[in-house]
Amino acid sequence: MILDYSGKLILAPMVRTGELPTRLLALRYGADLVWSPEIVDKKIIGCKRIYNDKLNCIDFVKVPSNTLVFRTHAVKEHGRLIFQLGSASPDLAVAAAKVVVGDVAGIDLNSGCPKHFSIHSGMGAALLKTPDKLVAILESLVEQIGKPHNIGISVKIRILETPEETFTLVRRLVATGISALTVHCRKTYMRPREAPLREHFLKEIAQICRDAGVTCIANGGITCKDEMEAMTENYGVDSCMLAQAPEKNLSCFRSSEEGGELPALEVATSYFDIAREVDNALPNTKFCLLKTIPGNMKDIFKKVAQAKSFGDIAVALGADEPECTVQELHRKRVQSLLS
Ligand SMILES: Cc1cc2nc3c(=O)[nH]c(=O)nc-3n(C[C@H](O)[C@H](O)[C@H](O)COP(=O)(O)O)c2cc1C
Repeated sequence: MILDYSGKLILAPMVRTGELPTRLLALRYGADLVWSPEIVDKKIIGCKRIYNDKLNCIDFVKVPSNTLVFRTHAVKEHGRLIFQLGSASPDLAVAAAKVVVGDVAGIDLNSGCPKHFSIHSGMGAALLKTPDKLVAILESLVEQIGKPHNIGISVKIRILETPEETFTLVRRLVATGISALTVHCRKTYMRPREAPLREHFLKEIAQICRDAGVTCIANGGITCKDEMEAMTENYGVDSCMLAQAPEKNLSCFRSSEEGGELPALEVATSYFDIAREVDNALPNTKFCLLKTIPGNMKDIFKKVAQAKSFGDIAVALGADEPECTVQELHRKRVQSLLS
């Protein structure tokens, strides 16, 4: 059965930040669905699917370099993970989706990223300027991936210059057979800190989606679970997606009834435990932790920034036993044999 995207609180796609430990902790704190970071079609095409029995994960590994491109937890993310694709070609998008289709609940097309790496090759927000191409990619994904594999196809866009232009585009997109549409209520040139533009856009977009039987997911400036009710009431959207708030503190997925946000250090420690458990890359683990640790914890921040191993991070976070990961132990053993 195709995933029901409505009534969901969602972790947004985030390059670097949205790797497996972030997604698992978001789910633990109450996110209903998690989006993968954008992965460009050519990067995932040709990857080998390997079941990692030590971690109970599925790894997608580039050959022959053996680089890990994407890792998902076989059980904990099952039915709750949407894979976000970067693509500017119907054929490449379909070929890329085929690689992961058996391990995800849906495929999302990024049509909102304004970063150079995305738009220079016609992907991301560049697709907003080539609506025929955008529609063609979505139609191909629906026909060749969504229907045969019974999974959802969705798209994530930004608002355009005027409400009318945006509504015209949304009407075309919802007619492609997609199950959900996320609208990031900022224009392509707007900075992440600028207030989202919901008035005159969001309510009408939600209505167009509803008329077509497509779930409308609101994104932009939503900071915690408690805001979801007001978003639904005020704009008629079905679901809410959050990025910068969980990047800072993943426990924003807990409602105030559930105790609300937890202290930053507690969240950082939980994140670190999961990162170590799923053998997350050290640089990515440090990057995500440094986003979470507040500026007034200068000493911890500095120690994490300078950490050369998971053991160093454990010490920085105050753990008594800085256990090593399996890989680190192995590396240390090899080093001691060589010395
Ligand atoms: C670190 C970071 C990485 C992001 N990477 C992606 C991405 O891979 N794909 C995408 O569609 N949007 C990406 N975005 C945009 C977010 O998904 C989201 O649309 C935007 O931050 C607005 O939501 P917010 O106001 O809750 O932060 C990224 C945002 C951040 C902060």
